[in-house]
Amino acid sequence: MIFDRNDNKEVIALLGAGAMGTAIVRRFASGRKILLGDISEANLKKVSDDLRYSGIDVETMIVDALDKGSVEAFADKAKELGEVKYYVHTAGASPSQASPEHILKLDMVATGHAIDAFGKVMTRGGAALIISSQTGYMLPIPYEIEQQLLNTATDELLNNEFIKENATNSGKAYMIAKRVNHLQVMKAAATSFKERGARINTISPGIIVTPLAYDEFNHPGNTYQVMIDHSAVERTGSIDEIAEAGAFLLGEHAGFVTGTDLLIDGGVIAAIRSGAYRLH
Ligand SMILES: NC(=O)c1ccc[n+]([C@@H]2O[C@H](COP(=O)([O-])OP(=O)(O)OC[C@H]3O[C@@H](n4cnc5c(N)ncnc54)[C@H](O)[C@@H]3O)[C@@H](O)[C@H]2O)c1
Repeated sequence: MIFDRNDNKEVIALLGAGAMGTAIVRRFASGRKILLGDISEANLKKVSDDLRYSGIDVETMIVDALDKGSVEAFADKAKELGEVKYYVHTAGASPSQASPEHILKLDMVATGHAIDAFGKVMTRGGAALIISSQTGYMLPIPYEIEQQLLNTATDELLNNEFIKENATNSGKAYMIAKRVNHLQVMKAAATSFKERGARINTISPGIIVTPLAYDEFNHPGNTYQVMIDHSAVERTGSIDEIAEAGAFLLGEHAGFVTGTDLLIDGGVIAAIRSGAYRLH
């Protein structure tokens, strides 16, 4: 049975075949080819089976985001398959899942390598979306340090003095990594993505119920319940709400939007900034 005879399809590449990423790419899947990359073979199988049963053209590739060569091979594979119209990056680990070193390498450096690699293969009119986090707003970084970080090559980020002095635990490493994602995207929008005629943005989700968030809920001393209680909307978010915003940012109605972040947190950061909720 041939579902689709068109073999000249645009490609959507997703690195991190998790809950949020899958919900986002599904919005654009019809008539396109999806290339899924993940370190977990089990995740790739589960997600690709689900997509295939919806009639979606999907290929998979084992990718270790921590390995720059593996990420570059993933971008090359996407280009081989067709015009790379969308790139979505959700490979990450949360504070309760990993050490500060691992978080900096995965959530910050690996994300930078992926932005660098896809900045070389996106098609004109394409768009990328990097999933950051509300925590990117939780540890203010002085402007001049941000400028320094924005202009630091991805491979040099771990040598930055501010990062070395401040990423003292997994929570702080995560806050820094996710803020650096905003800066990486700002830089790429103005340079590599501009040169290719493509756009790139971040979404900073608040508490979204996924397996990753469950690890945080079950972690002793977690502050998620307090955040939910102090947020304006007093609830968690869903992957569908992130996918809806992702569809806007990747889609044609956002043609004037690039190099920016969309915070979708139910008002947690507003509560912190206004003093209604104090982070410990
Ligand atoms: N769920 C939330 O509440 C929440 C909130 C804010 C930000 N985020 C961010 O959203 C992103 C996606 O989170 P999710 O909730 O969909 O999680 P998820 O665990 O469902 O997805 C993450 C995926 O990344 C993959 N991955 C991990 N290490 C990898 C590696 N080295 N190489 C390749 N793939 C790797 C995992 O196998 C998994 O499939 C993460 O960056 C996370 O930090 C999540």
